[in-house]
Amino acid sequence: MSFDIIRSGRAVFHVTDLEKSKQFYDALGFIETEATEKEVYLRGLEEHNHHSLLLKQRETPALEVISYKVRSEGDLDKLAAKLQREGNELIWLQKGAQKAVGRAFRYQDISGLPIEFYAEMEAVERKLQHYHLYKGAKVQRIDHFNCMVSDVEKAHNYYINELGFSCSEYTAGEEDKIWAAWLHRKPSVHDVAFMNAPGPRLHHVGFWLSDPMSLIDGCDVLASLGYGPSIERGPGRHGLSNAFFLYLRDPDGHRIELYNGDYFTGDPDFEPVRWELDDPMRQTFWGHEAPDSWFDEATEVLNVYTEKKVALQEAKLKKRKPTFVI
Ligand SMILES: [Fe+2]
Repeated sequence: MSFDIIRSGRAVFHVTDLEKSKQFYDALGFIETEATEKEVYLRGLEEHNHHSLLLKQRETPALEVISYKVRSEGDLDKLAAKLQREGNELIWLQKGAQKAVGRAFRYQDISGLPIEFYAEMEAVERKLQHYHLYKGAKVQRIDHFNCMVSDVEKAHNYYINELGFSCSEYTAGEEDKIWAAWLHRKPSVHDVAFMNAPGPRLHHVGFWLSDPMSLIDGCDVLASLGYGPSIERGPGRHGLSNAFFLYLRDPDGHRIELYNGDYFTGDPDFEPVRWELDDPMRQTFWGHEAPDSWFDEATEVLNVYTEKKVALQEAKLKKRKPTFVI
């Protein structure tokens, strides 16, 4: 590859009650970098970039875009040229068009997801050792996006062969087709995962915590503030990725995962781990089932050209959920 995508960088959510959302994310332990009447910029404690989650006040909830950081302005230009050669229409946002973000471009990817690439984001003070600011789940940094797409194998092949991602783990479904795939650029289990479902939709954004106890503390604080119903699934341990997880729904239903416990994947001879869809230890190592909402509900995404919601396409593989054998 002549360009270098570094990592997942930020997500931009549309929310219908900014104040309510702000309180929810504050309870979780995010740092508020900056806020205006219509926007809130959030980051984790160890993050040195301006934000990893941007909330925008709008009429209806949606995902505006998910963004990846590339190594340099030159990488951004090379990636843009490649995507244009493939026939993609790019929307350029010059430096200053978005708060704290340098030059960036957006496009609709091969699955119909709204994607943005940028090289530069304003630096801010890291709060890693400001322990007096630690609260809630002590959210440290953005880790990954999980997206529902209609053709996982197509997305998997494109991200690996054309964008330079590597596969850490995958789930085999009917006729040995890929039902879900976990792909990374940074040496962790993933920057993005794709799952078979009507799509394109955003299933969740994962944020990394330093230890499982922070996740438990997050549950306690959320419950004591009346956010108990926001806890959708977990805490638990995924078989796939080994992650200790908790899934939450924010006031607009956007799903956030609190996550830790995955592992190093940077060796070039690392072989992707295969799971069978119906292996009960794949979803949850301890064997208990996920609620139906976790498979059925997700955030709708916007078309970057029209700013309207993208119509869903049926999932290519018929099986939508695992059949548990215990
Ligand atoms: Fe996740």
